[in-house]
Amino acid sequence: MTASIEILSRSGYAEAIDGLADVLSDCVEGGASVNFVAPYPPDMARRFWDGIAPAVEAGDIIVAVARIDGRIVGTAQLQLITKPNQPHRAEIGKMLVHRAARRQGLARALLTRLEGEATARGRWLLVLDTEEGSAAHALYKSLGWSEVGAIPDFALTGDGKAYCAAMFFYKRLAV
Ligand SMILES: CC(C)(COP(=O)(O)OP(=O)(O)OC[C@H]1O[C@@H](n2cnc3c(N)ncnc32)[C@H](O)[C@@H]1OP(=O)(O)O)[C@@H](O)C(=O)NCCC(=O)NCCS
Repeated sequence: MTASIEILSRSGYAEAIDGLADVLSDCVEGGASVNFVAPYPPDMARRFWDGIAPAVEAGDIIVAVARIDGRIVGTAQLQLITKPNQPHRAEIGKMLVHRAARRQGLARALLTRLEGEATARGRWLLVLDTEEGSAAHALYKSLGWSEVGAIPDFALTGDGKAYCAAMFFYKRLAV
């Protein structure tokens, strides 16, 4: 088994969309609160990835993927803030690892890689939010992110049956 982390090129992104859709669908079907609600098959998830293609093409979103034996099993993205007064800031989004590939350090490796991409671009203040009490909450705490606070009832859970709180985090990188 060979695991790798890679930043998708603009052309590589188009080829990766089916794999990215499978991972997003699997996470939502597994209950993750990541903007969508189950049932959420891969053909629906594909629309999300198609929708951000222009921003990826423009270089405003940097997409990292984790592969095992060549197959995409995880992803995360660095979203560069384009507001003129926030040239130092970026956000982390769509941190997703397929249920079959969890607890192997892939999310940690994806995030570490994107923090490096942020530093290389002079983006030294990173922000994200995630479901309070989730696996991702534990992930960010374990990697030195600072909790800002939680907003109750921020979003629906992945099954759409209840509201959940979102915890906001930030991380100041050394540049
Ligand atoms: C959150 C998620 C990305 C973690 O992916 P992963 O590849 O399994 O995470 P890693 O193996 O890199 O874990 C790194 C550390 O995070 C923490 N962690 C990860 N999953 C955890 C869990 N289920 N429970 C507690 N801690 C967890 C641990 O500290 C872990 O280190 P350890 O395994 O040495 O103890 C994955 O569970 C997922 O895709 N969840 C659904 C989607 C989602 O909610 N994404 C977040 C959107 S903001």
